[in-house]
Amino acid sequence: MDHFNYRNGELHAEEVPLREIAEAVGTPFYCYSTATLIRHYKVFSGAFDGVNALVCYALKANSNLAVIRTLAEQGSGADVVSEGELRRALEAGVAPEKIVFSGVGKTPDEMRYALEVGIHQFNVESEPEVRVLSDVATSMGVSAPITFRVNPDVDAKTHAKISTGKAENKFGVPWQDASRIYAEAAALPGIEIKGVDVHIGSQLTDLEPYKNAFNRVRDLVQQLRSEGHDITRVDLGGGLGIPYDGNIPPEPAAYASVALEAIGNLGCQVIFEPGRLIVGNAGVLVSEVIYVKQATERKFIILDAAMNDLIRPAMYDGFHQIDPIREDQKLGTYGPADVVGPVCETGDTFARERDMPQLADGDLVAFRSAGAYGAVMASTYNTRPLVPEVLVNGDQYAVIRARPSLEELLNLDILPPWQQA
Ligand code: LLP
Repeated sequence: MDHFNYRNGELHAEEVPLREIAEAVGTPFYCYSTATLIRHYKVFSGAFDGVNALVCYALKANSNLAVIRTLAEQGSGADVVSEGELRRALEAGVAPEKIVFSGVGKTPDEMRYALEVGIHQFNVESEPEVRVLSDVATSMGVSAPITFRVNPDVDAKTHAKISTGKAENKFGVPWQDASRIYAEAAALPGIEIKGVDVHIGSQLTDLEPYKNAFNRVRDLVQQLRSEGHDITRVDLGGGLGIPYDGNIPPEPAAYASVALEAIGNLGCQVIFEPGRLIVGNAGVLVSEVIYVKQATERKFIILDAAMNDLIRPAMYDGFHQIDPIREDQKLGTYGPADVVGPVCETGDTFARERDMPQLADGDLVAFRSAGAYGAVMASTYNTRPLVPEVLVNGDQYAVIRARPSLEELLNLDILPPWQQA
């Protein structure tokens, strides 16, 4: 459930008409709903009431400081994958002991910083990484709390570009080698083994792959304990899908029972890293129709938003529902159209031959479910400035990232001395 609804004939974010924000900040812009963020966080964390669980929101889905702060105020921890994200989490008020550091390519500098601030754990993804981490920690006179991310060789049954748990993927250490790898890591001076981590992919709509992966984690925890390791934590990653196209993925409660059935009896702290589930449906991208063009074979609705602002359709064939801001258009007649952006690529297409309402130049539309992997994946391709982000809270709204001017964008480039007049 989200808080983007029609009221008085217009699509609102909570109590604010999106048209009003469009008039104030211009289009395109991302708009997030505080009430929806809080609701999603509570539904997910509430599924683990009474369990020793730590929810670490995966910042990569949306790392705006105001979004992180909203979740931190609810008690959320953070899953980060770079020093940049770690700094954002701290700045937004997440306690270091609620931060986990994931990623296949952590650098020694990033490790040093994370050790300085005292994060909860490193989710280590390879043998070379654990050796470097041990060296860095030893040089600082500390030891690094770690889990190994194991690759359980499970097919997550999601898009190939966001599947991470198959043996062919770059992530984690092979589960078959875990016993040896844990033994070798335990002998390193700067490493303190805490647990086992797994993350098999994103936008999962089926619980079966989770069941298989979590059972593998349970078996591994038991084996590692029998080999003398003190395993007190399991990190089950993120990935639970959201409804983009009307198909409803499993509820957090059903996901929780699968997780707890597998690992609930181990007496471990259970860590989760949800991203999309928390922010996906808490955001929309609002855009204006520039032209409607009737070509020989197709009708094209040309928007002022493009693939550089929301890359999911081009990159993963992602489906985003596109709704008119005016309710009368939503209720009117529909016909097939391609919805496209102004970027000079055929891939800059948001929807092909989709039934769309009768829109005209100047009309506003909202891309639903754009809160996750939207703004964070935007680029300035075609020298289009990053679009602003707005947060709504009840009847208030605020710009939480401003649109840079073209001058600011151009000023990032530097002419070499021999080209300066
Ligand atoms: N933990 C780890 C280690 C991850 O790699 C990810 C996502 C998450 C947690 C959060 O997964 P979520 O709950 O958001 O599914 N850009 C793609 C999605 C990439 C996901 C990357 N890893 C998209 O737009 O579909």
